[in-house]
Amino acid sequence: MTETLHRLVYYSRNHISGDAAAFAADIDDILAKSRANNGRDGITGALLFNAGCFAQVLEGPLDTIEAAFERIQQDERHGDVSLLALDPIAGRSFPNWAMGFVGLSDVDSERFAGIGPSSGFDIARLNGDQVHGLLRDLTIEEEKAA
Ligand SMILES: Cc1cc2nc3c(=O)[nH]c(=O)nc-3n(C[C@H](O)[C@H](O)[C@H](O)COP(=O)(O)O)c2cc1C
Repeated sequence: MTETLHRLVYYSRNHISGDAAAFAADIDDILAKSRANNGRDGITGALLFNAGCFAQVLEGPLDTIEAAFERIQQDERHGDVSLLALDPIAGRSFPNWAMGFVGLSDVDSERFAGIGPSSGFDIARLNGDQVHGLLRDLTIEEEKAA
């Protein structure tokens, strides 16, 4: 049954410190590793960064997304990793993304304003379905813009 398609959603708090260039270098490294590993493991999804938090959706075979989540939880570049959802799904929401990355553009930030209560985007107030819907909307917009 481990081949059944599943979706895992979590959020976490950023632990990367330093200036914008150092942050960008770490993000590049995370995305390069993620895309290589996820391509190998049949995982697709998207990663969001905003206001000091990451949120990520991983979709794929249960065994490989659980193994990826184990590695992700060990990574000291973030902490307080909180699982929001792990459910079987009928199909992928991010078929074209070994790991999409959204959240830093002005357009994305504006979208968060409608979701967060007052201080923009407050990921801690969202549930798994809301995080999944947000990331799906943002990546669809990125695909249109590309
Ligand atoms: C916010 C965040 C998201 C990550 N997402 C993924 C991911 O989707 N897939 C993955 O393999 N690694 C991901 N990583 C990286 C893993 O934590 C770990 O560094 C990597 O899997 C190690 O790969 P390696 O054993 O091939 O060197 C993420 C790390 C962070 C901090």
